Amino acid sequence: MNEKVLKALNEQIKHEFFSSFLYLAIASYLENIPLDGFGKWFRKQAQEEHEHAMKIFNYIIDRNCMVELQAIEKPPAKFKSIQDVFEQSLAHEQKVTKWIHQIYELALKEKDHGTAVFLQWFITEQVEEEKNANDNLDQIKLNGDDKAGLFVLDQDFARKAT
Ligand SMILES: [Fe+2]
Ligand SMILES: [Fe+2]
Repeated sequence: MNEKVLKALNEQIKHEFFSSFLYLAIASYLENIPLDGFGKWFRKQAQEEHEHAMKIFNYIIDRNCMVELQAIEKPPAKFKSIQDVFEQSLAHEQKVTKWIHQIYELALKEKDHGTAVFLQWFITEQVEEEKNANDNLDQIKLNGDDKAGLFVLDQDFARKAT
């Protein structure tokens, strides 16, 4: 595989693992409030991000190349509110989308069509992730300070996580 593309994919593994860490940190915050339903949903997101990292991990090995794992940054330990959590999630997913697009463009530039096709799954996934993050933030904003409403949303999220 092209050196630059390989390096970018190794970097993306780190980003996916960081996403997993971020969502775990959020789950811990939420389950302490305690909003266990939201926490459960973020635990599931963390699991999915771990799977994204492993998808790239496996792809690199399938291409007969070496995975070079990178240090993962420490995620935030504190969050201000449930709205803050969903704002940070959306901003993070938007960043991930940008990174995926950059690797995709690099793969095309380097004529690595196999990697370009491989990345199409991630491009589609990011559309879904951004849609979910946007919808979730809208729901939280609409709910405002309504405690009873938040309780109902918490139960909804618990259901969505199963
Ligand atoms: Fe991801
Ligand atoms: Fe994601």
